[in-house]
Amino acid sequence: SDVVDVDISMLRPGQQKVVQWRNWPVFVQRRTPEALASLQAPGADRDLRDPASRVLQQPRDATNWHRSVVPEIGVYIGICTHLGCVPNYNAPSATDLAGGYVCPCHGSHFDIAGRAFSDAPAPYNLPVPPVTMLSANTLRIG
Ligand code: FES
Repeated sequence: SDVVDVDISMLRPGQQKVVQWRNWPVFVQRRTPEALASLQAPGADRDLRDPASRVLQQPRDATNWHRSVVPEIGVYIGICTHLGCVPNYNAPSATDLAGGYVCPCHGSHFDIAGRAFSDAPAPYNLPVPPVTMLSANTLRIG
């Protein structure tokens, strides 16, 4: 449907859930402190194709360093901007503190905020849908 409410009360730091919105998969992630730190690290933007998401418009409330309404929660349309496969989520781990996404089709990879790395075939970042926080544990997409 055009509006989907998502309960994130059970989502732990580092976890992601996938919901359907307008027949698209949408990734809803709760970030770890390390993932948040990775987005703010000096030089974190260096290898990104479009660090400030200028190519594809995103909602005004997501034009910030965390590309989301609140820093701890990221919400991205889960369609690779190359040819439309669904990227796999790499949860933050001991060997990959930041986490991110890798597309199984042609290897595009994205940071934890859905931004494409410049060596990826994906021409732009994963889009941000409209999001409203209804409460600390519920968000609305659409
Ligand atoms: Fe994702 Fe080609 S569809 S890299």
